[in-house]
Amino acid sequence: MKLWAGRFQKEVDAKTNDFNSSISFDSRMAKEDIEGSIAHATMLGACGIIDKKEAETICDGLQKIWEEIQSGALAIDPNAEDIHTFVEGELTARVGDAGKRLHTARSRNDQVALDLRCYLKKECVTLQEQLRTLIEVLCQKAKKHSGDVMPGYTHLQRAQPITFGHHLLAYAEMFLRDVERIGDAAKRMDVLPLGSGALAGTTYPLDRELTARLLGFSAVSQNSLDAVADRDFCVELAAAVSLSMVHLSRFSEEIILWCSWEFKFVELDDAFSTGSSIMPQKKNPDIAELVRGKSGRVFGDLMALLSMLKGLPLAYNKDMQEDKEAIFDAVDTLKLCLTPFIPMIETMRVLPENMRAAAAKGFINATDCADYLVGKGLPFRDAYKITGALVAQCIAQGETLESLPLLEYQNACPSFDEGVYQAISLEACVAGRKVIGAPAPENVQAQANRILELLKNK
Ligand code: ARG
Repeated sequence: MKLWAGRFQKEVDAKTNDFNSSISFDSRMAKEDIEGSIAHATMLGACGIIDKKEAETICDGLQKIWEEIQSGALAIDPNAEDIHTFVEGELTARVGDAGKRLHTARSRNDQVALDLRCYLKKECVTLQEQLRTLIEVLCQKAKKHSGDVMPGYTHLQRAQPITFGHHLLAYAEMFLRDVERIGDAAKRMDVLPLGSGALAGTTYPLDRELTARLLGFSAVSQNSLDAVADRDFCVELAAAVSLSMVHLSRFSEEIILWCSWEFKFVELDDAFSTGSSIMPQKKNPDIAELVRGKSGRVFGDLMALLSMLKGLPLAYNKDMQEDKEAIFDAVDTLKLCLTPFIPMIETMRVLPENMRAAAAKGFINATDCADYLVGKGLPFRDAYKITGALVAQCIAQGETLESLPLLEYQNACPSFDEGVYQAISLEACVAGRKVIGAPAPENVQAQANRILELLKNK
């Protein structure tokens, strides 16, 4: 039965009903819908808008409906128009007239805005928890590998020596910002839209502050049109989730590279990799690839939300029903990706010898060689030029900066002495990078501890 059947003489066409219906994707908000209705009925009763006894009957009925949905005793009707219609219909079938009073001073427009906010507020907490777990795993791994030298890259060319711990903490910083961004989105979600009616509020003397308190909202919306037409909160969350996916995708890309025989910096645990049906030797980083691949659909969800909203006149338009699949998919996808990604990182075997061997090639200590000359009093530009010429000489002679005889150094510049070999040793190169934010092992330890401390205080 339609909530709006009053002025209609025919049932809606069956296929049109399917097209119009949102129950297939909004039934996941059943709990929030019921909680919202319980709060609304309680407030109506407290304000004397409906009889207190009837309010209780409504609340008991709704509570029972939720229990039965949860236990599986009550199946959600797939032919209902949406979850709001289903719950109200079910309630009325059970408690009669009292049920018919539930929708006093309410529209599905403020109801759906409420349900979505309540549902997403909880999802924000779950996402933040998952991201925090990932950050913690990264910090523990970073501490373990704080002294393991690896090549740092620009343009995917070996550039300067860093530590593996430092590399991992770069991602920890990104995910920390993601946690904050999701928290920011949650803050703006934390405003109660209920009481805005269809668009123009209501003439009933509602106590919206009471409803807000009952539902744990910190504020009440101040403009009824905005409250029912706003989906900024979905866009903000989708944007924050998209950025998390960007970070996961970049990390995945690196893991895929690191797993290759060309790098062999890490090996994924068997439980988090897959084989090939034809090539017996293969061990593929499928999880990382899927995460990288799934980032695109989340960006699509963000784009769908933005496009859905951009041309809508105030206030509610049915276009807005499209918000749910998009934001649910974005949130589901991030949760889904993090689920295997976290243990994949946790169990990943790190191969520091291979990282070090890669760092020993590619002249990544050339900057340190130039800095050594600066220490001897040369201007950096001159030191840079001399070192560049030495690198060219090494390439021509098949040497490395470590193997080049001192005599050759001194031919290039008399300021060189024995100390150069110590200065360009990879360990010295990273140990010397102690400025705030740099990869020295002691910094990595301190930064990992700082982040772990931050997580504790959240
Ligand atoms: N299923 C609808 C949605 O998701 C609920 C609001 C319907 N309101 C209306 N006036 N048709 O947006």
